[in-house]
Amino acid sequence: MDAYKNPLYYEIAFSFIDPKEQVDSFEKLIKEFSKTEAKRFLDIACGPSLQLREIARRGYDAVGLDLSPEMLKYLEAKAKEEGLKIKTVKADMTRFRLKEKVDFAFIMMGSLDVESNDKFLSHLNSLAASLNSGGLYFIQNMGFDWTQAPKQSWTMKRDGITVETTYESHFKDVINQISTEEMTLEVNDNGVRKMLVHKRDLKHIFPQEFKTLVRLNGKFDFLGWWQGDCNKWDLDQPLEKVKTLNNSGNMTLLRRK
Ligand SMILES: C[S@@+](CC[C@H](N)C(=O)[O-])C[C@H]1O[C@@H](n2cnc3c(N)ncnc32)[C@H](O)[C@@H]1O
Repeated sequence: MDAYKNPLYYEIAFSFIDPKEQVDSFEKLIKEFSKTEAKRFLDIACGPSLQLREIARRGYDAVGLDLSPEMLKYLEAKAKEEGLKIKTVKADMTRFRLKEKVDFAFIMMGSLDVESNDKFLSHLNSLAASLNSGGLYFIQNMGFDWTQAPKQSWTMKRDGITVETTYESHFKDVINQISTEEMTLEVNDNGVRKMLVHKRDLKHIFPQEFKTLVRLNGKFDFLGWWQGDCNKWDLDQPLEKVKTLNNSGNMTLLRRK
């Protein structure tokens, strides 16, 4: 079973994030860097998006984009249950157009998953067509440091459901900068045991390559990248000054020209 086809278990596995703190951080960044008033937010690869639910609760317009119909259906059901208005769009992040432009776009949890530099450029083009001039693009957890091949595991519990998550990454193809990531969710749902797996090949975009591609695309200003934890980021800690890069804590900020 694929973890992305089981949004409830995915949401429980990643419920260590604090969406209130994250959206507070977005609001601070908007105040500091945005050149447009932020009224409409887009979550790219949104999944169950605890963030969009918090954003909608604060009265902003909220749009979630994802490839997985299961994730979008779950988000729609959650929005309905919580009395929130969230628009969903089923699309590929490397090829999409929104009917109405947004003022702030974000992508969380290392979800910027493109197979090649051409696809990354196509992603930037899609976003440029959907983001108002002066609006920010916030990217969390780019896997810039590919010398890290971490194995992590953690356990989360809710409503009688326990989810034990294991995440592993292995180098696969040095020339094409690809590693294989595997995430396993071992679920005990009130006594019923299930095993969910998600495996993907991730094309690493190295830091200087990232900056060059953004410049080549030409539609965004690179504002910087900083270290933090998973909920807030420290503008006193640009990655250039950090001694040890921590992929799971970084954020990168672009602004639509
Ligand atoms: C790691 S989950 C992140 C979910 C959520 N944003 C979070 O922070 O927990 C990655 C999500 O990206 C979606 N996804 C994967 N490839 C995609 C693509 N090419 N375009 C749009 N969504 C994609 C998956 O369906 C999944 O919901």
